Amino acid sequence: MKKILLVDTSPRKNGNSEVIVDTIASDLQECEVIVFKMREHICNPCLACAACQEKDTQMCVQKDDLTANLAAINEADAIVIATPVYNQQMSAQAKMFIDRTYPFFNAEKTGKTNTSKPGKKAAFVCSCWAGDKDVYEKYAVWTAEALWQIGATNTRGYVFEMIPNCGDILKNEIHMEKVHELAQWLAE
Ligand SMILES: Cc1cc2nc3c(=O)[nH]c(=O)nc-3n(C[C@H](O)[C@H](O)[C@H](O)COP(=O)(O)O)c2cc1C
Repeated sequence: MKKILLVDTSPRKNGNSEVIVDTIASDLQECEVIVFKMREHICNPCLACAACQEKDTQMCVQKDDLTANLAAINEADAIVIATPVYNQQMSAQAKMFIDRTYPFFNAEKTGKTNTSKPGKKAAFVCSCWAGDKDVYEKYAVWTAEALWQIGATNTRGYVFEMIPNCGDILKNEIHMEKVHELAQWLAE
C-alpha cells in the first residue's frame, strides 16, 4: 500500500490548503495517508545546530512534532506540501517544514539524501489571491524540485489562483479537477 504524507502549512483552519489536503486524502482511500496540519502541532524552526549532520540517522535534537514526523517523511512514497502564498512566497510554516528536513541531507549518498525510500513523488501546491500565476508557477515547480533532499525525484508544482477567501477553491471547478488529478498521480 502506498504511503502518502499531506502537509497543510496554512495557519487558517478551513483554508484552501486544508481543502486541498482533505480532498486528496479522501480520494486516496486505497493508500495509507497521513495528514499533517502544522497549526495543530508544536513545530519549531531549525536551530542550525547541525547535530543531524554528525550522524547518518535522520535524527534531530528537538523534541517537537516535526521531529516526530521525520519517520513519516522517510517512509512516504509521495509528499504534498500545501501552502498559501504570503508576500510572493511560501508561508513561514512551509519553509519551517522544509528546513527541518535537513536530517535527510547527506552529501556522500546518491542524490545527497539518506532516506531509505528514494524516488519519491512530491508536489508543492500554492493557493493565492493574484491572477499573475506565471511567476508563482515557476516558484512552485522550482521548490518542488528542490525537495531532492528528502528523496523527491518526481516532482510537480501547482498554483491555484484567484482564491483569496477560505474555501474559495471549492467554487472553482477547474481548480478542483486539478486537485483530483493530483491525487490520481500520487496514487499511480
Ligand atoms: C499575510 C498575507 C500575505 C499574502 N500575500 C499574498 C501574495 O503575495 N500574493 C497573493 O496572490 N496572495 C497573497 N495572500 C492571499 C493568500 O495567498 C490567499 O488568501 C490564499 O488563498 C490563502 O491560502 P489558505 O486559504 O490555504 O490559507 C496573502 C495573504 C496573507 C494573509
